[in-house]
This record gives sequence, structure tokens and C-alpha cells, in this order.
Amino acid sequence: MLRPVVISSQDGAYFLFGGEKMKEQLISISAAAKTAVEACENEAQIEEVRVKYLGKKGELTAILKQMGGLSPEERPIMGQLVNQAKQELEALITDKKEILKQAARDEKLKAETIDITMPAKELKVGKLHPLNTVLDDMINIFQSMGFDVVDGPEVETDYYNFECLNVPADHPARDMQDTFYLADNILLRTQTSAAQIRTMENLKPPIRVICPGRVFRADEVDATHSPVFHQIEGLVVDKGVTMCDLKGVLEQFAHEIYGKDTKVKFRPSFFPFTEPSVEVDVTCSECAGKGCRVCKGSGWIEILGAGMVHPNVLRSCGIDPEEYSGFAFGIGLDRLTTTRYKISDIRLLFENDKRFLDQF
Ligand code: DAH
Repeated sequence: MLRPVVISSQDGAYFLFGGEKMKEQLISISAAAKTAVEACENEAQIEEVRVKYLGKKGELTAILKQMGGLSPEERPIMGQLVNQAKQELEALITDKKEILKQAARDEKLKAETIDITMPAKELKVGKLHPLNTVLDDMINIFQSMGFDVVDGPEVETDYYNFECLNVPADHPARDMQDTFYLADNILLRTQTSAAQIRTMENLKPPIRVICPGRVFRADEVDATHSPVFHQIEGLVVDKGVTMCDLKGVLEQFAHEIYGKDTKVKFRPSFFPFTEPSVEVDVTCSECAGKGCRVCKGSGWIEILGAGMVHPNVLRSCGIDPEEYSGFAFGIGLDRLTTTRYKISDIRLLFENDKRFLDQF
């Protein structure tokens, strides 16, 4: 038989039977909820706690559903107690949320603090590679003489690199240039002269172009040889172009790049795509022609090959050699750069060592 147990609630109410059990439950749920709120470390956790106790299916809400089992006298008292517990918990959660929010804000501000007394970060400004500096100068010089800049592919066909330049297969001149072949008839261009042909195929005279770019040869690597190097090809085709024009242009170029006291010497030479052909030397910029280590005592430095475009080359590009004539030249960019900056080893130009590049 059930004996009415009478206990006093906080506000002096009395409970009998079921009411007492509910009250105990209420007290233990409230205590557990308070502990859970205190343990929360962030807003997500506190929201979880809120749902667990105060949500639609929360534990405190569930208690109200047991009210049906209470006597009519107990119900309002218990209802009031549950509501009171809910309100207390809500207030606790609101306070805790505020505390956590404040803590998160403090943490963020602390992390974002800027120490304005710290030295500023060094600003790293990029620089041009010495090859590009010299190339830009050369382009400016030739543009001032009315030349346009054209481009050509680094992977070329045998036809453009040799055949059409009057160097048929088995021609001994092919041995002058050790070639990297990628496939039958496909190669890495050994000279920018290949661009002459493409230009003459695409443009009608008068033609006045330079074509700077990388070229490739299977040379042994040493202080003066690299399998990759750079040339600037020049081509002029028009009516009445003579060797004098070639001399004038190259002298002007040498004076601009090395200074107006520089002397220019044309030596007879041979290239299959020019007739006559010359190699051009300039007085050594290091010793002004007296002879030194750079020019190996000769006083001269060879800078380019040139000549009058061979009639066969003009013809194979559809230009009538009876009507038009032209000159061409191929300047090595790397030698020009190493002598200008007194760089003792050509390999330094290709190694991308920052300590080396930072000096320019
Ligand atoms: N292509 C030649 C070489 O790589 C240089 C050269 C010589 C270019 C004479 C020319 C030229 O255009 O006319 O050695």
C-alpha cells in the first residue's frame, strides 16, 4: 500500500506519491543540465545542451508530459516548478553563451594583433635576367632602324632549318651544327635562320625583321659552350639591297651596343644560305683592341655571321632574285651578354642561381 510521503519543495509546497518522484527527477535533470552547461567550451556545444534539455524532445520538456499522472492539486505546483527550472536553465545558457562569445572574440582579437613595432617585410622586386636586358637593348636598336620583331618555333622541321636554307641532306655544312633530332625530319632548331624562311613565305618585300630566340646544339658543355643558347636573326629583303646596307646596319648596331669608337671588321666566310658570306668582329670592349685575356690577345671579338641572301633561298621562298636582293645576319646573344657583364662562364646564364642573378 502506498503511503503518502510528504516533502517540502523550495517554495513550501507538498508532494504526494508521483509528485515526489517527479521532483527528484527534476532536481537531478536540472543538476545534470547545469553541469553540462558549465562544461561547454564553445557555442556549438551549448546549443547541443539546450536542445538536449529544453528542445521539443528535451528532458525537461519530457517531464511536463508526465503531469497527467499527478493529482489535480499537485499539477499546478509541479508545473510551476518545472517552468522555474526551465527558466533558470535558459538564463544559465544565455549567460554562458555570452561568456563563450566574448571569449571567442577575445581569442580572435588576440590572434589578429599586429605588432606595429616589428620591422617591415623586405619588398623583393624582380629583375630582368642579363640576357633579357641585352636583348631589350638590341631590340630597341634594331627597331630604331625600322626592323620588326618576329617569332619562330623552337621545334622545327628539317626543311625550314636546313633544306630551304640551301643545305640539302648530305651537305657537308650540316656537320657544322650538331643537331638534336626529335623524330625523322623534326628537330630542335640549330639556328634562328629558320625564321628567315617562314618570314619570306608570309611577308612580301620590303622585309625588315629580326627574330630573337633560343637555339639548340648537341655541343659539349664548357665555359663557352652550352647546348642551349640564343641568337638574333636579321633579314632585310627589298629592291636594290647591297652589301653596303649590311655594313651600315651592322656598324650602327656595333656603335650603339659597344660605343661609337668600336671598330667593325668583316672577314670573308662561308654560310650555305648567303653569298657572299662574312663573319663580323668588333674591337674587344675589354681592352679596346689592345689584346687581353677576353679576346685571347687578338684585340677582336667575333659577334656574328652574315651575308647576302643566296638566290636559291630567295627562289625557294617564291621571291625572284632578279628583282629582289637581301642581307641576313645571325648574332649570338650569349657572348654579347658575357662580355658586357664580364661573366666568365656561359653556364651561369642558365643555372638560375639567385646569388648570381641578384647582381644585375
Ligand atoms: N645561322 C648562322 C649560325 O648559326 C649564323 C648566320 C650566318 C645567320 C649568316 C645568318 C647569316 O642569317 O646570313 O652560325
